[in-house]
Amino acid sequence: MKFDSHEKLSSLTLALHWIVAIVMISLLAIGVYMVETETRSLYSWHKSFGLLILFIAVIRVVWRIRNGWPTPVGNYSNFEHLLSTIVHWALIIGTIVLPISGFLMSSLGGNGVDLFGLEIIARNIDPENPAKTITHSEALASFFHNIHYWSSYIIIATVILHVAGALKHHIIDKDETLTRMLK
Ligand code: HEM
Ligand code: HEM
Repeated sequence: MKFDSHEKLSSLTLALHWIVAIVMISLLAIGVYMVETETRSLYSWHKSFGLLILFIAVIRVVWRIRNGWPTPVGNYSNFEHLLSTIVHWALIIGTIVLPISGFLMSSLGGNGVDLFGLEIIARNIDPENPAKTITHSEALASFFHNIHYWSSYIIIATVILHVAGALKHHIIDKDETLTRMLK
């Protein structure tokens, strides 16, 4: 297994970054859309891809621990270095906190979770009215709902900052930061 070097990031780093990036951006957009438009048919897809990203995110965390973080391409100010460190940590933590809070919110709320049709947690059906579900714990479901809601908006803002930073390096600094993450 090849590790990252200063000049070239490993293919595992590139693959993990872009798979997680595309799925995360899609899940953030689908999440907001399905809630705003009350499109219930999207919930199951959202949960399945959300769980999938948890597995990939865990692999990525293990990879970051073994490999370390990519070293900065140029000589940046301390402020820029600190900002990018905070942003990268927030993004990695977000990819773990979002799926776990979503999973706990749905399971404890009694709505159940499935992974592409495979039942992981069964829906808690009301015996008197099978169309309804009963929550296991209203308080805990609402606690994890709040975490899922707030962390998703924090991560949306962080992704915007992150992409703005990548574009700033490419367009203003004209350095290799973005191209190193592409090839
Ligand atoms: C990285 C993974 C995930 C991301 C980025 C994500 C993002 C989002 C976003 C942005 C929303 C809309 C928030 C709002 O405006 O109310 C949402 C809602 C929701 N998410 Fe996720 N989510 C992820 C994983 C999961 C998982 C794994 C589950 C469950 C197993 C889940 C279950 C839900 C549910 C049920 C809602 C709707 C909540 C409601 O009706 O108010 N999410 N998610
Ligand atoms: C179009 C969207 C995106 C672009 C253009 C982009 C670009 C980049 C670039 C150029 C780097 C290298 C920074 C360096 O060398 O210091 C990077 C690193 C990173 N990006 Fe993104 N990114 C995008 C989306 C995302 C998303 C959605 C996430 C959220 C999970 C994310 C998480 C990270 C993390 C954690 C790093 C640190 C290195 C690593 O762990 O691979 N990125 N990104």
